[in-house]
Amino acid sequence: MVVPIVGEHESEILHAQTHIWNHIFSFINSMSLKSAIQLNIPDIIHKHGKPMTLNELANALSINKSKITHLRRLMRILIHSGFFLKFAMIPLEEGSSGSGEGEGYVLAPPARLLLKDEPLTVTPFLLAMLDPILVKPWHHVNEWFSSDEPTPFEVAHGRTFWDYAGHEQRLNHFFNDAMASDAKLVMSVVMKYSKDVFEGLNSIVDVGGGTGTVAKTIAKKFPNLQCTVFDLPHVVEGLEGSDNLSYVGGDFFVSVPPADALLLKWILHDWSDEESVKILKKCKEAIPSKEKGGKVIIIDMMVDNKIGDDESIETQIFFDMLMMVLVTGRERSERGWAKIFFEAGFSDYKVTPILGLRSLIEVYP
Ligand SMILES: C[S@@+](CC[C@H](N)C(=O)[O-])C[C@H]1O[C@@H](n2cnc3c(N)ncnc32)[C@H](O)[C@@H]1O
Repeated sequence: MVVPIVGEHESEILHAQTHIWNHIFSFINSMSLKSAIQLNIPDIIHKHGKPMTLNELANALSINKSKITHLRRLMRILIHSGFFLKFAMIPLEEGSSGSGEGEGYVLAPPARLLLKDEPLTVTPFLLAMLDPILVKPWHHVNEWFSSDEPTPFEVAHGRTFWDYAGHEQRLNHFFNDAMASDAKLVMSVVMKYSKDVFEGLNSIVDVGGGTGTVAKTIAKKFPNLQCTVFDLPHVVEGLEGSDNLSYVGGDFFVSVPPADALLLKWILHDWSDEESVKILKKCKEAIPSKEKGGKVIIIDMMVDNKIGDDESIETQIFFDMLMMVLVTGRERSERGWAKIFFEAGFSDYKVTPILGLRSLIEVYP
């Protein structure tokens, strides 16, 4: 045990310094994870099938031999952040050879979702969110506070996120891939626990449905349900439908194709209350009355929904900040959601909190 040799005041100051340092360098956690993904470390360790030594990992990565000790340092932070486990310990001492012999790595449970071939992989989402195009606006938040620009993204890039995605193919592709990967995970849960929300419908439009991952899942499970993916023209351009799946390009501020039900997954958190009410009003025009089965199905975050643990609360706050920096949106509490539903003319809603930080909300005209 280390006996404190400084007084209470100094101890407080030093603790404050550590707290600040920890926050200054929080990005090192995400950037280290990104490097590991880019190096393909989770897949390589997984395919090895048993604990992998540092040398085996270095050989499989074909990295420069002079970098082996540095690879060990990268693995140490990823072990600390809970993505890998080490099966035997040799302390990393200054001046040690760093050969890593006797030390073997395996995946910790969260790393399974980082594997490229894992059907529910989160890797495309991670690479998109940490791409320089999406990170740059964070350097402009202070400037944005005193400017007229609606978002830091526009301060950084001179146009809205959606406009940029329409002109920059790389952004369009990696963002659509990120959304598709999330859609797979969400639909795996929805189809298992809330499939009944689609029962009895003849038609559904996935509004802002990206490249159609959600709609494809629904179309496959419900062959008699006509599914339409509605998104901006540059997103759906060239995409081929099937018997009960079609793609339509358009703008949900102008109109939404008519259907029994509309699905809005991760749409309204992108937009301010005023913009969301406009979108919801267009949705209301596109569906039949409640008595005839009309409804809007929303998949989005509902904050303060008594999840409780610190990591979940911080993650919800991160998302809210993300929506502030990239787009004009926000994450909403139940009160915030109810306000926009009623303002748009809807009469009632039902919340099913089955998606971790997100909920499935059915909204009735
Ligand atoms: C956050 S993504 C969600 C994609 C998909 N729903 C999902 O969760 O996988 C938002 C989607 O809204 C689309 N979008 C943005 N503005 C739009 C507009 N004015 N009209 C139609 N779609 C729009 C984007 O192209 C994007 O695909």
